Amino acid sequence: MAEIVPEILSRRARRAYGPRTLERDLLERLLEAAVLAPSCNNKQPWRFLVCHDDDALELARGALLGGNYWAREAPVLLVVTTRDDLDCQLSDNREYALFDTGLAVMNLMLQATREGLYAHPMAGFDPQILRNAFAIEEGTRIVTVVALGYPGDEGTLNEKHRKSEDSPRERKPLVEVVQWNRWEPL
Ligand SMILES: Cc1cc2nc3c(=O)[nH]c(=O)nc-3n(C[C@H](O)[C@H](O)[C@H](O)COP(=O)(O)O)c2cc1C
Repeated sequence: MAEIVPEILSRRARRAYGPRTLERDLLERLLEAAVLAPSCNNKQPWRFLVCHDDDALELARGALLGGNYWAREAPVLLVVTTRDDLDCQLSDNREYALFDTGLAVMNLMLQATREGLYAHPMAGFDPQILRNAFAIEEGTRIVTVVALGYPGDEGTLNEKHRKSEDSPRERKPLVEVVQWNRWEPL
């Protein structure tokens, strides 16, 4: 019977990371999966900063907002960036850098799921802190920070986050997000 891709079903934005380090070849495999994403005219606008050693990790951790305390335990923080001029910019104002970078991040997260890892994207960070810490130029968009690591002890989480680790998926029903054959204003 046709089924949804298992990694799409099992991927969750989980937060209980363990200390086990991620080997370089595993990280490279995740990044290889990421860059297999499609992009407009194959422009490949995604850029990744892998914070893997202690110094880089400490700098990246310093940008996390309080609600993302749990991501401090992740052994890798992946800073995902792009620049508008790295991708298609059409004359009618359509811009594709963010879209295509998101596709690459999804590939990476699915590969991470397949490898038994947690991969949790975050908006809750201060981009200016990252910009200063790593001398990231103005014009480069810091899109997300993805916490990467193996599962660990849920005891490090607050109660709300502990409950959400295996909570049911919450999604709008298709009827709210899909229209068939004719458009009506949402
Ligand atoms: C762009 C983006 C930003 C997010 N930022 C945060 C964040 O700062 N902190 C957090 O705990 N989760 C964050 N999430 C995770 C979402 O809350 C989560 O994906 C959503 O609730 C759906 O749950 P699921 O991924 O387990 O299906 C973010 C997800 C995305 C895609």
